[in-house]
Amino acid sequence: MRFDGKTVIVTGGGQGIGRAVSRAFASEGANVVIADVDPEAGLENQEYIRSNNGEAFFVETDVSSEDSIKNLVQATLKRYKTIDILINNAGISKFGNMFESDSALWDKVIAVNLRGPYLCAKYASETMAKNNNGCIVNIASTRAFMSEPDTEAYSASKGGIIALTHSLAVSLGKYKIRVNSISPGWIEISEWQKSGKAAPAVLSEMDHLQHPAGRVGSPLDIAKACLFLCSDEAGFITGTNLTVDGGMTIKMIYHE
Ligand SMILES: NC(=O)c1ccc[n+]([C@@H]2O[C@H](COP(=O)([O-])OP(=O)(O)OC[C@H]3O[C@@H](n4cnc5c(N)ncnc54)[C@H](O)[C@@H]3O)[C@@H](O)[C@H]2O)c1
Repeated sequence: MRFDGKTVIVTGGGQGIGRAVSRAFASEGANVVIADVDPEAGLENQEYIRSNNGEAFFVETDVSSEDSIKNLVQATLKRYKTIDILINNAGISKFGNMFESDSALWDKVIAVNLRGPYLCAKYASETMAKNNNGCIVNIASTRAFMSEPDTEAYSASKGGIIALTHSLAVSLGKYKIRVNSISPGWIEISEWQKSGKAAPAVLSEMDHLQHPAGRVGSPLDIAKACLFLCSDEAGFITGTNLTVDGGMTIKMIYHE
């Protein structure tokens, strides 16, 4: 039980990667705060963790709202008295051709994916700084480093997360707060959605085989990386990015 009694906030903890991350911390003894804009998903995950003898608490949160983030931090402190770990996972994958989409798409993606993690870090780390102890993991993406067409806002938001991570690590180091990011590659989330939305993964052999690791990723791969980065084993790791993509971004591709 590496995280016995520790309080962990997981934004976007209701579904997908955040669902696996919150369950992983709960199974290691943590008090898990599921901060999600979707109450159905968040309450369902809270119920799952509780029925598996874990400690979980859902707080309806929209990370694009500063007031909502302040409320999340207050509700967490009211229930658990402290905050030890923040996993900035909530994000939206909205893509669009820049000639056909207006600036609202850009503003929305940046508000959720970049401003949200910054503000969550700002308010959660006030308590961590008082404790002289803490850990933040920001979920970026391999799209911070490489792109498909029409992904400007999303890629920029994730590139921003990489820079935000090293900046926070330097600012918060004096309070013994470590800050790192994880860049997931292709993570198959269909089976990790709320009931009603969850579906079996439909993946071809080629989907798996194009990865040097031989398979598409699972939310569990990201959960394990979060546990590692927040554990004592990672005590000398801060300001860095861990790419968890089965090797896709180191593959050289030539078209015939
Ligand atoms: N799945 C992948 O292949 C992949 C790859 C790289 C990076 N990521 C990143 O991983 C993170 C999780 O994505 P996922 O694939 O699990 O997606 P998902 O859609 O399954 O889960 C995202 C969760 O965040 C919540 N959310 C959305 N907007 C929110 C807001 N404003 N405030 C609070 N919660 C909000 C959603 O309700 C949902 O529960 C995101 O940051 C995403 O960019 C995912």
